[in-house]
Amino acid sequence: MTLPILALSTIFALFSTISASTYDTTLSTRFVYYSAATFCHVSTLTNWECGPACEAEPDVIHVTPVGNEAAGTFSYVAYNSKHNEIVVAFRGSHNTENWIQDLDMIKQQLPGAPSGVKVHTGIYQSYLSLQQGMLGGVNNIIAAYPAAQVVVTGHSLGAAQATLALLDIKNIFNPEHLVFYTFGSPRVGNQAFSDYFMTLYSDYKRVVHLNDWVPHAPLKAMGFSHAGEEIWYYDSDNTESFKICSNQVGQPENTSCSDSQINDSPNSHKFYMDIRVTRQCTLISAENPKARTFLQN
Ligand SMILES: *[C@@H]1O[C@H](CO)[C@@H](O)[C@H](O)[C@H]1NC(C)=O
Repeated sequence: MTLPILALSTIFALFSTISASTYDTTLSTRFVYYSAATFCHVSTLTNWECGPACEAEPDVIHVTPVGNEAAGTFSYVAYNSKHNEIVVAFRGSHNTENWIQDLDMIKQQLPGAPSGVKVHTGIYQSYLSLQQGMLGGVNNIIAAYPAAQVVVTGHSLGAAQATLALLDIKNIFNPEHLVFYTFGSPRVGNQAFSDYFMTLYSDYKRVVHLNDWVPHAPLKAMGFSHAGEEIWYYDSDNTESFKICSNQVGQPENTSCSDSQINDSPNSHKFYMDIRVTRQCTLISAENPKARTFLQN
């Protein structure tokens, strides 16, 4: 992907109309399974025979795994013929725990974005390790199914990588139907970043389960801010109840949903839509021991 193409499509993106959709729990469940599949061993993923995560959507074909062994990162691009849907899902990293707890919290300018739009350096670097392969995969599948809706998703650090991917996919391909749900995402950048994101794409559904601690990191006090509409599942007794908190360009992050929680817990991070995200595989990704400790214990 060359920079001129990116700049040109950014200009086109300005002319596209964006209308917010309603949060859909059926979509949310389907996308948790897409996210869960990223934790499965690549040998089972390629034939879409990875266990419950794959069985949830049997009509997935053209699975293109995109991994970076050195960075320990993984994602895949695929096509669901039943829903005419291109899937782009991110796993995150083998050291998710380190990224999120990294106290340096160094931010860097996001290339191609207006000055002052900054993202967490660790998250950005981990995304870069997948960027080219992922965009190549999307390019191939979009060429074959140009009218398909494009779904971008991920859990945890994978959700953060998906946020950066969404911007690239929007800027480069500008698909007519672009759907973006994430689960348990950490904050990705500063408020200039979340404003930039929401200006380009206003339909982000950011799902947070109960008192999941990951969406509280990195801290607002460190200058980080969430983008998108938060869908907060707030009730441990009624797991279907949720509350929606909107975020507005130019306004600080909405604190009426999960930000109103004081006792954050690592346990809620493991479950989204009542699905234990990393336990939906017959064979777990082999190179992922740290994520296992963190997410699965
Ligand atoms: C937070 O979200 C709620 C629900 O969408 C909305 O009514 C409220 O105005 C938002 N608050 C801020 C500060 O944006």
